[in-house]
Amino acid sequence: MKKLITVFKGDGIGPEITDCVLEILDAAGADLAYEMFNVGAAEMEKNGALVSDDAYASFDKTKVLLKSPITTPVGKGFRSINVTIRNKYDLYANIRPAKSSAALKTRFENIDIITFRENTEDLYVGVEEQIDADTVHATKIITRKASTRIIRDAFEYARAHGRKKVTCVHKANILKMSDGMFLDIFREISAEYPDITATDVIVDNVCMQLVMNPTQYDILVMPNLYGDIVSDLTSGLIGGLGLLPSCNLGTDYAMFEAVHGSAPDIAGKGIANPTALLFSACMMLEHLGMDDIASKIRAAVEAVLAEGKYLTPDLKGSATTEEYKNAIIAAL
Ligand code: NAI
Repeated sequence: MKKLITVFKGDGIGPEITDCVLEILDAAGADLAYEMFNVGAAEMEKNGALVSDDAYASFDKTKVLLKSPITTPVGKGFRSINVTIRNKYDLYANIRPAKSSAALKTRFENIDIITFRENTEDLYVGVEEQIDADTVHATKIITRKASTRIIRDAFEYARAHGRKKVTCVHKANILKMSDGMFLDIFREISAEYPDITATDVIVDNVCMQLVMNPTQYDILVMPNLYGDIVSDLTSGLIGGLGLLPSCNLGTDYAMFEAVHGSAPDIAGKGIANPTALLFSACMMLEHLGMDDIASKIRAAVEAVLAEGKYLTPDLKGSATTEEYKNAIIAAL
């Protein structure tokens, strides 16, 4: 029987890359059926809600969501729907693997860094207060519960996947109580995993280290905001945002999405790179126990990248999304 999943088509390049990814999943023989919903700013204009009740009801039922990027207005307007979904379903672990492709020429080879980003608190609680006309306070929340589960997940993942090192990224020199507690918890938990090297680094230093000597890192674990920023940096190490997938895991629900946004600057031009969403779909297949299909798709992508004939413009090629997709399907 086909496994039913929920799909949210978002804004900007979202619909283009979603169609393309679903075609590739079908071509690869993924035994999936889809409940598909338009969500985001365009849907809001049409039907008055960013995400309809039906769309939420589908995710409630299937518990697996493939989601494409959604636009969030800058400096005003509604709260990020991405943050809302992560909180509504307690998707506390945002896992973002940055792995080099042997086929792509980048400054460094053999990057294999997984960011474990806490996904439910920190400055993302969105609590801001106007104190007076010239002063705004923003609230950063770090709790023992949320810190413990993301840090433990990072160590458990390391052990299960034969990884050697987990590094805690923080700013505990300045934020002595909040990041200080995150670091203390990291040190407590690391003592339970003597087989895994545990190190810590201040967030500004890790940015410099990542652009100078990235292969020293294996798994990084950090609070929400640093995870957002540092993982975009790791995408740059492997060839850009068009390549970096993610999963957002909770106890009961799982959401899979590209790390990048809706890319309004290239939306509708047919040149977006669908790989980040496609690799997110591969993480979804693995979550569903369909590892063989995921491997098949990854191998087809690698073959197309190695051939170098059908690369999208972000990878210095001139292929359209459609041409790239067709090449992947042919390679399958
Ligand atoms: P962005 O990630 O959309 O774009 C940054 C740059 O990367 C742009 O030059 C874009 O063309 C390029 N890019 C991104 N994805 C690409 C792809 N697949 N192929 C080729 N090039 C790609 O970030 P930006 O412009 O800061 O944000 C645009 C909107 O997306 C904002 O409203 C933001 O809030 C939202 N956003 C949504 C996310 C989500 O739904 N999870 C995550 C990040 C941003």
